[in-house]
Amino acid sequence: MTAAAGYITDVTYVPGFYAHMAPVALRHVAALNRVAPPRVAEGFRYLELGCGLGRSLTTLAAANPHGQFVGIDVNAEHTAAVERDVAAGGLRNVRVINAAFDAAPADLGSFDFIALHGIWSWVSPQVREDVLRVLDRHLAPGGLVLVSYNALPGWAHLQPIRGILRHYAALRQGDSVQRIKDALAYVVYIRDKHAKYFEDNPRAAAYVDALLTQDAKYLAHEYLNEHWTSFYVADVAAAFGAAGLPFVGSLPVHTNFWDLCVRPEFQELFRTTTNRLVTEAHKDFCANTAFRWDIFSRQPRTLADVEARLREADDLHFRVARPGTTLPWQANLGVVTSTVQGPLYQALLDALGDRSLRLSEIVAAEPFRATRPDDVARAVDAGVAMGLFEVAAGPLPDVTGNVTGRVSVPDAFNRALIASEALGGRAIALASRHTGTGHSIGDLEAVMLHELCERGRDGVADRVSARLATSGRTLQQQGRAVTDATEQAQLVAQACDTFLTTSVPALARLGIVATG
Ligand SMILES: C[S@@+](CC[C@H](N)C(=O)[O-])C[C@H]1O[C@@H](n2cnc3c(N)ncnc32)[C@H](O)[C@@H]1O
Repeated sequence: MTAAAGYITDVTYVPGFYAHMAPVALRHVAALNRVAPPRVAEGFRYLELGCGLGRSLTTLAAANPHGQFVGIDVNAEHTAAVERDVAAGGLRNVRVINAAFDAAPADLGSFDFIALHGIWSWVSPQVREDVLRVLDRHLAPGGLVLVSYNALPGWAHLQPIRGILRHYAALRQGDSVQRIKDALAYVVYIRDKHAKYFEDNPRAAAYVDALLTQDAKYLAHEYLNEHWTSFYVADVAAAFGAAGLPFVGSLPVHTNFWDLCVRPEFQELFRTTTNRLVTEAHKDFCANTAFRWDIFSRQPRTLADVEARLREADDLHFRVARPGTTLPWQANLGVVTSTVQGPLYQALLDALGDRSLRLSEIVAAEPFRATRPDDVARAVDAGVAMGLFEVAAGPLPDVTGNVTGRVSVPDAFNRALIASEALGGRAIALASRHTGTGHSIGDLEAVMLHELCERGRDGVADRVSARLATSGRTLQQQGRAVTDATEQAQLVAQACDTFLTTSVPALARLGIVATG
């Protein structure tokens, strides 16, 4: 096993897009927490520390052509892969740097956004210091930093699994992938023989099944790093606070609403707490949080009231996420099921059903004039949290109903991605310049889209079936692999039908596909 400061470098990571890393998501969370988000209309700068294979970096760069994106990673194979994707997608706004954080070039400049996902819990205390030094030097005043980490108490009962995986892997031969496979086989063995730890911790026993579905490269990066650890929010907030970076909020959006995260019997506890970090700590226990995405800022500028938000942070656009949504709407956000109903939400559904509006336009619209702007803003933000509304960096195209005619993908980055990743075994995210973020589709959907663009609608199901057959991939039906060719062809035909009637209009609404 080779490692840089305790971080493995002998196997590459897996590609993945994380929507929480999008500037639009960070800006929305800042605004709803009454912190002025960085202005982006004239352009902005974004740095990803530890960009891995760069799928978030490149997708966000494609979705925000007016932003400048920089990724740093110590693994040369990772940065070379990002360079290839940058070239294939024709991206002109990405710089990739192969370096450790402590060797980041002095000419990096300052950034409005700095994001690090999958770093903080997995690197040494020294590297965490290196990260804070980069933030100190390169985060602009008012800039936002996003950091993800394994959190306590959710990780507490799983921590021994990581311990045993790492200890067992260290005894094995081969590269990190081989070692983690051997270690996982050992853990399954002792779990299946009812080792007392698993008997006493049934959720840990179930967790092993989840590990078995994961890519071995992911598992190697997750579990074999020497310094892996998990943190209480208070620890991370203290480290960032000491570096002059106060807490702003967190992602997903619902985590900013404690009433969406904890059961009603805890509500009194929260109502009597005014310190946000204490609230966060309560919440992590009441919800057994295992992973956090926290946002901090340098010299955050507070927005005193909703009027200040409407004046200074009003370039986000809101729209109903799924056309045809009706009330009551239920969302289960982990611990509690929340129900959305009532006249305010009905009016919002009507106003935002087929067009996107800015918050100032919503509060000024006739149905909302009698409602306090504060209440309207909270309903919109909570609606985003519950998946009722989507938030976008700019106005969204007005596309309604069925879309017909030729399907095309206007963006070169998206075209390159569907050509290279279709049937690659994992979801891909396509960039939308309208929303400013990426939107995931399955790898089978990617092959359908590729075929539709290349050769049109006629015979698309047959062509997708043929590609499936040559790839050797089989579809799953209710957890069973479909091996019969006729059954597989029927499933593909149904999937193509659904894709054309549901997914293509949804992608057209995002401006990712064009039709006609
Ligand atoms: C778990 S991966 C996450 C990759 C990416 N952020 C993502 O979400 O897909 C962690 C990445 O951090 C990089 N890394 C670890 N320690 C580093 C250091 N000291 N300097 C630069 N990169 C580092 C690794 O090479 C790896 O690509």
